[in-house]
Amino acid sequence: MPLVPLSLARRFGPALGPLRALAGGGWLQEADLDCLLRLVHPVLRLNRVFARVESRRWVADDMLAIGLRTNGNTRGWRPGQHVRLHLELDGVRQGRSYSLVSVQEDGRLELAVKRQPQGRLSNWLLDRLEVGSVLELDPAQGDLDWPQDASSVLLLAAGSGITPLLGLLRQALARGFTAPVTLLHYVRHRAQRAFSEELQGLMARHPNFQVRWAISGEAPAVDELAGRFQVDHLAGLPAHSLLACGPHGFVAGVRDWWQAAPRGGRLQWEAFTAPAPTAGVGEAVRLRFVRSHRELPGNSAANLLEQAEAHGLRPPHGCRQGICTGCTCQLLAGSVRDLRTGAMTHGPGLPIRLCVSAPLGDVELEL
Ligand code: FES
Repeated sequence: MPLVPLSLARRFGPALGPLRALAGGGWLQEADLDCLLRLVHPVLRLNRVFARVESRRWVADDMLAIGLRTNGNTRGWRPGQHVRLHLELDGVRQGRSYSLVSVQEDGRLELAVKRQPQGRLSNWLLDRLEVGSVLELDPAQGDLDWPQDASSVLLLAAGSGITPLLGLLRQALARGFTAPVTLLHYVRHRAQRAFSEELQGLMARHPNFQVRWAISGEAPAVDELAGRFQVDHLAGLPAHSLLACGPHGFVAGVRDWWQAAPRGGRLQWEAFTAPAPTAGVGEAVRLRFVRSHRELPGNSAANLLEQAEAHGLRPPHGCRQGICTGCTCQLLAGSVRDLRTGAMTHGPGLPIRLCVSAPLGDVELEL
């Protein structure tokens, strides 16, 4: 039971400045201070970001918007960025990144989570996350921003790629952006048109904003486009600046279109699935070990633990079979293949087990 409500606990934030300085200087242990703070309220911490779930709302058949209220350690966070959310499931800490659909000054955030066929954490959030639960979030990342000086803006989203673009769009329209803005959202089924009522409301209130949907898995209605992304869909649309977000193949197609005829404005994009492997099994790759300041030749057949050791590095390890987690390391860039399952992991910032991971092209590791 919290000693004080969250709204009051958040007011302690500025008063924690001196404690942060003492912990930063090594005079106090941050972990000890965090233990005391969490007694005041379960989300309070010195620097780490914890948040309480305040609301759940379905915004499509397969997407849930989650309202959170953080402890105040979210300075500088912006809509359009993404955060990694952590939760313990069956005793194992799991993490997954989601886009920030809104960020309010009073510490309220909104994330949107889409159901995934194999998405253990995402599906758990959709089905079982309760209002009142407490979650931990990593610092926000991502560079998408609204092109304020653009004479027109085209937004292209596929699937859950709508979430960062909606965050930026909401903010831009609320701040009075008046140049033409067009959003095309690609979905398989009509019921997956996330935030469709809100988007139609924005279109009604802002004459400079247009939204259209493209449907690939069923017959489109008269006012809808048919099929996956194709250049014909963009004919006649003003596109001085472009923001695109979706799976890697979608974003690659959009980039090819944009680069074929430069338009003077800016292209920004974000892909949320991994690119196709850049090396076949057994091919030469480059391995970059960031903390060791080494860049070395490697291959895409052997595990990264053995390859690092062959070059004289000594990563911590235990079982060498992918069980003990002793060799877990952060993948900063590139993709790796799990040698046991063939599953692919794509950076940045995801933990991998060196002893059962082989690179799928050049990789960068925090080692
Ligand atoms: S050494 Fe045990 S998981 Fe890699």
